Amino acid sequence: MTLSNLPKIDADRLWRRQTEMDTLGATPAGGVHRLSLGAEDIEAHRRLANWAVARGWTVELDDIGNMFLRRPGTDPALPPVASGSHTDSQPMAGRFDGMFGVLAAFEALETIDDAGIETRHPIEIAIWNNEEGPRFTPACMGSAAYAGVQPLEKMRAVADPDGITMGQCVDDLKAAIPGAGHRPLGQPFAAFIEAHIEQGITLEGNGNTIGVVTGMQGYRRFRVEITGQDAHSGTTPRSRRKDAFVAATEMAVALRAAFIDDTDTMRFTIGRFEVLPGGISVVPGKVIFTIDMRHPLSATLASEGNRIANICDALKGPCEVTVTEFINSASMEFPMDIRDRIAAAAAARGYPTQPIFSAASHDARHISRLGPAGMIFIPCLDGISHNEAESATKDDCAAAAQVISDVLIELAL
Ligand code: GLV
Ligand code: MN
Ligand code: MN
Repeated sequence: MTLSNLPKIDADRLWRRQTEMDTLGATPAGGVHRLSLGAEDIEAHRRLANWAVARGWTVELDDIGNMFLRRPGTDPALPPVASGSHTDSQPMAGRFDGMFGVLAAFEALETIDDAGIETRHPIEIAIWNNEEGPRFTPACMGSAAYAGVQPLEKMRAVADPDGITMGQCVDDLKAAIPGAGHRPLGQPFAAFIEAHIEQGITLEGNGNTIGVVTGMQGYRRFRVEITGQDAHSGTTPRSRRKDAFVAATEMAVALRAAFIDDTDTMRFTIGRFEVLPGGISVVPGKVIFTIDMRHPLSATLASEGNRIANICDALKGPCEVTVTEFINSASMEFPMDIRDRIAAAAAARGYPTQPIFSAASHDARHISRLGPAGMIFIPCLDGISHNEAESATKDDCAAAAQVISDVLIELAL
């Protein structure tokens, strides 16, 4: 098809759906709090499923809570061409991270449907469960289990802080969408393309609308657990304390200093820090903190990450420390063919575009094991993300949906 007969997406419809979804888990400061498979996230899935059914598309759920909305193709033997992202958010976070990519895919497929275009391949919208990971660890759980990177039963057994397992939540999701068929894990895709906000300042700074994502930076995550001894804060002298907080703060300061690099390339974050038992008058006997470390060079990520356990051990004082790694994902590249198609589609529409490397991680990383994958970025205001103030424009969201629509048609015909 040429540009003159490729259908145009409906920017108003896309924006309306975005604002409808923004009400699910809305926070006072204009963000969303929509943790994986909580009531608001299940409602988001239910709405998407209802909209799909109203279009005559099918809905499938797998055993880790991924949802697939499918418009059939003319050749049932062919694997689907797909687009999508995730509906869950970080705690008290933004409206666009994840949800925008799902709705861009939905708008693209509605556009194709409205135009009555018959494709050989089925086209699917994939909604990957638990991309963010604050309620259930690890992040990108749905896509990882689907692609065989994490074992299904182990992931279903993961519990949230209240002891509710992912398996129970997936059952709740299935109960909320009783008409959904069952999707086996690991089914291949003819292609998968994910639209997402950049979560950085590159596109905005360059005045570009579409980023053609070249690849994704690797990351490692660790859980550091320090065990001392609970004690009375008034009666226990320093000489007899095994204060886990003291050891943990020494470690935190030393780790931060160890990973400061001249080029400001390393990303080192302690995002969670729990002091237990949490009594004002109790010397804390336990601290648990997390480390998220990212670097584009896999060799640097490997060698720097391997220093963490030694640094912690040297500063444990009278306490014990264990360092457990729960994610280790190397940097990766998307195939040239998909990148070229995205770039060509964006250029044909006249959107200013550039290649861009993703500093954040996304489900497309895992799905690239099941077929050629790629990503499209759009700018977000001041690069702010994982924050209630996250913001993207209607025009930029529409541009991404348009590129998704054009590329899905090209791949699925
Ligand atoms: C995604 O949210 C990430 O942490 O990179
Ligand atoms: Mn995301
Ligand atoms: Mn995110």
